Amino acid sequence: MSGEWIKVAAPATTANIGAGFDVFGLALHEPYDIIEGRRIDSGIVISEVSGPGSDSIPLDPEQNSVSIAAMEALRRSGEDFGIEIRIKKGIRPGSGIGSSGASAAGGAYLAHLLCGEKLSPKEVVLCAAHAENVTSGGFHADNVAPCVLGGFTMIRSYEPFEVVSIKPPEDLGVVIALPDITVTTRESRMVLPSEVSVKNLVFHVGNASCLTYGMMAGDLGLIGRSVKDAVFEPARTKLVPFLKEAESEAMSHGALVSFLGGSGPAIISFYDKSTHAGETIADSIRELYTANGIGCDTWITECGSGCRRI
Ligand code: HSE
Repeated sequence: MSGEWIKVAAPATTANIGAGFDVFGLALHEPYDIIEGRRIDSGIVISEVSGPGSDSIPLDPEQNSVSIAAMEALRRSGEDFGIEIRIKKGIRPGSGIGSSGASAAGGAYLAHLLCGEKLSPKEVVLCAAHAENVTSGGFHADNVAPCVLGGFTMIRSYEPFEVVSIKPPEDLGVVIALPDITVTTRESRMVLPSEVSVKNLVFHVGNASCLTYGMMAGDLGLIGRSVKDAVFEPARTKLVPFLKEAESEAMSHGALVSFLGGSGPAIISFYDKSTHAGETIADSIRELYTANGIGCDTWITECGSGCRRI
């Protein structure tokens, strides 16, 4: 016996945001994956995967982020029925804007809906983080937390898990530039240092604190000044050709700040929607890459509300 199809949109997210490595995340309005599912008697079946990069997505439910998260949500909800899943990727894997996180969050949220919404939002995040851990080689929830909860999220602690979400300022515009390069989170985490200096710790605490205040107070200038990273982006710059040049282009075309999105290669630029147009920032980065023989997709978007039923 099969149930009715339920469709969920799971949006892109940007993680780290300067000083908040594995801590800060922001839900974006688009792009997004569409995850569909229906109840079946038993077993998890992925019957369809389409969209950019779908060739690289495993159909084996034990290896796929959507199904791993969905199974965890079933387990935590105390249910043992099966689910048939269809995945339409809008966010290609290896992008740095939470492709696996959107799959994981979408899978967890879908199963949560099919189970009759027995879990708390935090438990849905944990189901998705479990899938991230299996597929990306590290327990980090800074993409799945905003993807489930929406807004600007801060993970205070992983053990015990505590996360808060706040609504970012309305005027905060976001440009995503995604050069035609693939960087997996796994490889991008392997280039990171294992220790940080006290000097960099102080620098990160100051910037992270002021970014949070800027998000709460709606102070776009402070947000722009506080997205700073002395440790993680410098270690990853070599993985993304023309990263620094792209950030400079964005800044000279009106961005408040421009930085590496998560583990890369996406380049995220914040701008003030009330005074600037995202198009000029997006065009400047796309032209830089195309002039160097690398294609580049761009999205002009804004902060979003996380997974939703559509
Ligand atoms: N915080 C993670 C990292 C996010 O930077 O590795 C991955 O998108």
